[in-house]
Parts: sequence; C-alpha cells; structure tokens
Amino acid sequence: MKHIWIDCDPGHDDAMAILTAYAHPEKLHILGVSTIGGNQTLQKVTQNAKNVLSFIGAEIPLAMGQSGPLVKPLNTAPEAHGESGMDGPYFSGEDYPVVSENAVAFMHEQILACPEPVTIVALAPLTNIALLLRTFPEVCSHIECISMMGGGIDHGNCTPLAEFNIYVDPEAAHIVFHSGIPIVMSGLDVTEQATVTVAQIDSLQNRGRVSHLAYELLHFYNESGHQFGFIDSPVHDLCAVAWLLAPEIFRGTKRYVDVVTDEGASRGQTFADGRPIPAHPANTLVLEQVDREKFSALLLDALARLDHVGKAE
Ligand code: RIB
Ligand code: CA
Repeated sequence: MKHIWIDCDPGHDDAMAILTAYAHPEKLHILGVSTIGGNQTLQKVTQNAKNVLSFIGAEIPLAMGQSGPLVKPLNTAPEAHGESGMDGPYFSGEDYPVVSENAVAFMHEQILACPEPVTIVALAPLTNIALLLRTFPEVCSHIECISMMGGGIDHGNCTPLAEFNIYVDPEAAHIVFHSGIPIVMSGLDVTEQATVTVAQIDSLQNRGRVSHLAYELLHFYNESGHQFGFIDSPVHDLCAVAWLLAPEIFRGTKRYVDVVTDEGASRGQTFADGRPIPAHPANTLVLEQVDREKFSALLLDALARLDHVGKAE
C-alpha cells in the first residue's frame, strides 16, 4: 500500500490519473488532492477536481494551492483543454468540500501525520511542491519519492525544448529537482508513447457511468490533440500513476537531471548529464519506454472497476 498525495491541474489527463488511482484502493491510499493554476486558472481546475471527485463519490480531502508560478504570470492552456480546462462532459456542478487551509500548509500537516512515507504524484506545474519543500523542509524525510509528469529530455511541447508543466514554473521545478528527494520523471519521452486509441475511447461510450465520463473527456482531448499532430492523444499524467501501479510496463534510466531557469530559448528545458562521468549523482529515474497496450489496459480496467463502485445513480 502506498500513501499518495496528488497535485494536479485538471485537465483531461489529470482526471484519468485521479480515476485510475482511485480505482486501486488496495494499492494506493490517496491522502489528498491539491490543485494549482496551470491548464486553466486555479478556480477552474479546482472546480474540475471537485467535479471528478464528486462524480465518483470520493471522500478525499481537496485543497487549493497557488494560483500561479513563483515568478512569472500564469499562461493557461485553453487550446489543449478548453475554456473550462476540462471541456467535453457536462457536470451538474455538484459541490464538493474544499479544505480552508492553503494546500501547501495542508499537505505539510497531512504528510507529517501519515505514519508511513508518502509518495507525491505531481501532474502539473511544481509550484505547490516547491513551496512545500522550501517552507517545511522537515517534510522531505517523510516523502518516499515524487512521481511526476513533466519535462522531456529529447524535446518539449510548449517550446521545442520545454514541456508545459516545467515551462510554467521552471524555478519551482529547479527546487524540486535539487531537493534530494528521489524523482520518477514521466517526461514527454515516455508520455507521448502512452496513448489510448480512438477505438479504445469509443469502446467506453455508454459502457458504464464512469467509462462514459471518460469517453466524453478522452473524445474531446483526442480531437484537441490533432492540432498538435497527434492521431491518438497521449494521456500524459496517467503515466505518473501507472508507474506506481505497474512499474514493470515501463523502462527507464537513472540520470542526473537539471532544469534551465535562464531567460531565452531553453527556459524550462529539463536536461540530463549524459557524460560518462556526470557532474552529479543521479537524482531522477527518467522513464523512456512504456508498453502501450498494458498502459491503456490499465486505464480501461480502472474505469470498469469504477463503473461498478461509483456514486449511486
Ligand atoms: O505537457 C503535459 C502536461 O501539461 C500535463 O500535465 C497536462 O495536464 C498539462 O498540464
Ligand atoms: Ca496536468
């Protein structure tokens, strides 16, 4: 059993990660979910998190984090996720409780209160995580690892060199990569292999209550991915949860990874020291390959599980 904390900016792929984690209570105990401005504004991504958690009848603490990055203003991604940040399905706007404390303080409290080490699942810009580690350094020894979606060694998506989650807040990412906490990086190198096919998406339509929600989300997200050149859209964030559930479907290499925070064309780039004798010890397991069939089956199986245990009609 792993105790996990999910930091996210739902986000279609964030939603798939939350659903898949929630479908495996025998393996993952979700201590809490926190939101951060990223794909859309903090208000919108928090409403999206409320919609997902309410839809599945979850009783997981939800906390709001920072509205934007440490230094620069937030640039959201409506082109990818729509104006709501999770376009596609209609949600009845059911409410869901949000804790009164800021997510950083609440994460600190909950992680220290957990009797066993906690795994952070970071699916968004790393602002909340960076502030947690800097404001409350004692929490570091209670964190087993950070399984994050972000970065890319070979290329970016926001810019040729920088991936969105890192590009939004490179300073926060730099703090996290230099924290000494083991990182498992699901960067674009692996997440762009982590796709669900159109046929698989269509198979979810009317298959069950949660499956159909996933169909509406993934159908929109897949269509949206075409503008970026994807036939089947990568479910990026799900990799950070899939690695916790089925690490054997991934291949990766331990490397020293750092983040560019300078202004200019490489701002937000995550690079690895590929020299025979790197300047620093490895700080990151960089995931490089995933078995796509087993990855997509993990999602479809999770949705089938939730179809039968979701919120009563
Ligand atoms: O680059 C992909 C990342 O940016 C994912 O976390 C997605 O949700 C968006 O936030
Ligand atoms: Ca995300």
